[in-house]
Amino acid sequence: MSADSRPRFAHLTGWGRYAPSGVLTNADLARMVDTSDEWIVSRTGIRERRVAAAHETTASMAAVAAKRAIAVAGIDPDEIDLILLATLTPDYWMPATAALVKEAIGNTRAVAMDISAACSGFVYGYSTAQAYITSGMARHVLVIGAELLTRFLDYTDRNTCILFGDGAGAVVLSASDEPGGGLGIELTTEPQGAYMIWLPSGGSKSPPSAGTIARGEHYIRMEGRETYRFATRTLASTALAAIDHAGLQPSDISLIIPHQANVRIIEAVARGLDMSMDRMFVNVDRYGNTSAASIPIALAEAANSGRIKVGDRIVIVAFGAGFTSGAVAIEWTADPARGMLGEAVSPDSVHVRPPLDWDSVDPIPDALAEILARPGRVPLDLSDVVPGEPEPAVHPSLR
Ligand code: ACO
Repeated sequence: MSADSRPRFAHLTGWGRYAPSGVLTNADLARMVDTSDEWIVSRTGIRERRVAAAHETTASMAAVAAKRAIAVAGIDPDEIDLILLATLTPDYWMPATAALVKEAIGNTRAVAMDISAACSGFVYGYSTAQAYITSGMARHVLVIGAELLTRFLDYTDRNTCILFGDGAGAVVLSASDEPGGGLGIELTTEPQGAYMIWLPSGGSKSPPSAGTIARGEHYIRMEGRETYRFATRTLASTALAAIDHAGLQPSDISLIIPHQANVRIIEAVARGLDMSMDRMFVNVDRYGNTSAASIPIALAEAANSGRIKVGDRIVIVAFGAGFTSGAVAIEWTADPARGMLGEAVSPDSVHVRPPLDWDSVDPIPDALAEILARPGRVPLDLSDVVPGEPEPAVHPSLR
């Protein structure tokens, strides 16, 4: 990959989504933990979520969404110069899941890498793609958000297991000399929230062991109320900043596509932007929170269901672990009817190559299966792995 110096616009030319067919309803969860459909719907708006089948992985779901987005863009997979895959649930620690997707979609030329920014990952990836295109470093960039969260949830913890689901979404951004595409971007990272949503073990600070697994440290943990407060405080202001950077007013925006975490959070964003809920896209009821996949899934559904037309200004806006947040104000230039071309791509046309020595790896070892099957968690003191209160962040200008 090399740079030329032509300034360009980055138009959104392709979009696609993939949702596994398995469905986990609130009634299913109520048989596993002490919860109810009424509690989950009233507190979150979630009715059901998708669960990947045993043969599916983050890469396989990502590759289907990517092939669909490429079909909509009407380009050959080999025209993609850069593949950015946002995920917090990669197939492996290495290689990057983006590299597996590159092979699965039949691309031989692209640079491929993963992006780690939790639920804001897709927006961070989108802004990176925009920067590569407008600097002349790339002509066509594939941005994917894909997650297989159901394999990282503690199904004895009602605070987290009701929230998340699996899926993938993707877009193609393409260089153009015509105005349009991404017009304004705002990104923030607030590390004082770093341990509000986190996964303690498996990294270098707490490498995986029988002990970390027995203590359930490989599952997502979350301080729900603090996260909720961050989301409602940040999402509207992040969206407003992106709208402002685009030289627009909220009244210019026809549709907001927010991260789908909780319908009450989306309602708070609408209030913060002084917009009615019919300008907010909502599908959290059917998918739950699919983290980095939530915005590209929602965007593809919005385009394919007639909610977006050529010339519309829309905003994608996310928040997530980190704490991170991000928003992009976009002028839509593609014919939404092209979405049909993506829907025609069959998941069976995608194959992710397994490792040569896969037989030497047991995806769910017997000992782990036994621990997972035990009801309740092993009560152990976690003070050796849980860090103390983080220092409040101070802006560099105030030091
Ligand atoms: N079913 C029944 N009761 C429950 C459940 C459940 N599934 N979960 C919690 N409760 C109970 C609690 O134990 C508590 O009981 P108590 O009063 O006896 O202590 C009570 O319900 C209220 O709990 P709260 O946590 O105050 O409930 P809240 O209204 O805040 O809703 C929720 C919880 C839905 C998690 C909310 O805080 C939220 O949506 N937070 C944001 C989460 C989020 O978006 N996370 C993803 C971030 S993105 C990323 O990067 C992954």
